[in-house]
Amino acid sequence: AMAAERALAMATCTAPVNIAVIKYWGKRDTDLILPINSSLSVTLHQDQLKTTTTAAASRDFTEDRLWLNGKEADVGHPRVQACLREVRRLARKRRGGAEDSARLSLSYKIHIASENNFPTAAGLASSAAGYACLVSALARLYGLEEELSEVARRGSGSACRSMFGGFVQWQRGERPDGSDSLALQVAPETHWPELRVLVLVVSGEKKPVGSTAGMQTSVETSPLLKHRAEVVVPERLAQMMQHIRDRDFEGFGQLAMRDSNQFHATCLDTFPPIFYLTDVSRHIIALAHRYNAHHGHTKVAYTFDAGPNAVIFALADAVAEFVEVLRRSFPPAANGDQFVRGLPVGSAALSPELVAAVVTEPVPGAVQYILHTKPGPGPQLLDDPSQHLLGTDGLP
Ligand code: DP6
Repeated sequence: AMAAERALAMATCTAPVNIAVIKYWGKRDTDLILPINSSLSVTLHQDQLKTTTTAAASRDFTEDRLWLNGKEADVGHPRVQACLREVRRLARKRRGGAEDSARLSLSYKIHIASENNFPTAAGLASSAAGYACLVSALARLYGLEEELSEVARRGSGSACRSMFGGFVQWQRGERPDGSDSLALQVAPETHWPELRVLVLVVSGEKKPVGSTAGMQTSVETSPLLKHRAEVVVPERLAQMMQHIRDRDFEGFGQLAMRDSNQFHATCLDTFPPIFYLTDVSRHIIALAHRYNAHHGHTKVAYTFDAGPNAVIFALADAVAEFVEVLRRSFPPAANGDQFVRGLPVGSAALSPELVAAVVTEPVPGAVQYILHTKPGPGPQLLDDPSQHLLGTDGLP
């Protein structure tokens, strides 16, 4: 017979982080990762935050292996295995049983290497980008072309939303098998060109309770969460979609803040309670409200996930002034670290009235650094072989 299957194949993709403005918190099926409510997020630009993943398959590999940020990790992790299994199942189905000689053998073992372009320790949600990237790279490896948010969801719920750019809804779905619990793009990243995002990294400490465990306790104990999922979120989701369609920052910002606050209220309503916000988080919340009150409308909006870091939304013309307010409110330690990173931020002079009204209680060093970014596209394929994270020997 002619030489049949390819001996080595490799694919590298990048995938983005996303930040929810209508939060996902609570599963109705913990194995399939099916949520109790729909959610909506903004995909952040990969120039500032991204995961890169290379997936390789070879007849010479003797076992599946995984490296995260250069260190070997457990490829047997149930969620990694679920993604691998689902991608292989789809690839098998697509081939209709007959082995196609030009394609890659499904019996080959796999090597995967993944890294982030941001510090994992900073507590910036990396599992969403990580699983979206894993699934994208595996799909490329096997030549799958279908929409794979349903597979990324099996890695981490929020990961399904990182399969698209711009503004993305994860629809809850109704079916017990999860086949209708998928992500849909509401609007592309080009839809709202003035929208900007500031990630305020407040702490390197690890969060006390992980999302997965935390939300399960919330489902079991919080009556507020039940009310939120049944009554509040369906109304808010429709409103948020409209604000995005209208590019209405006032409506968008107000609702994003309220939804973040309600999510953290459900954490307090969980028993025993869970605390993700810290004193610094609360300082940032109070500061944002003083700033908006001073201007008489919503110039900035905050949102917090399962950790103390703040994500601030603003329109481009408000960024320089608010960053200066942050610099005055959280004077950075003079340790040579760049305080403002990412997209350039112009300089702004603050009026004495603004300073008096808004910069009331400076907390030196409370914010480590600010990352300036904006909405961005979904997962990308890297064509240049020099960008693979694995060598031709299949090792990092
Ligand atoms: C607070 O997606 O990390 O960030 O599905 O268990 O992996 P698992 O949880 P995960 O939860 C994210 C929760 C959140 C809100 C959100 O992103 O919608």
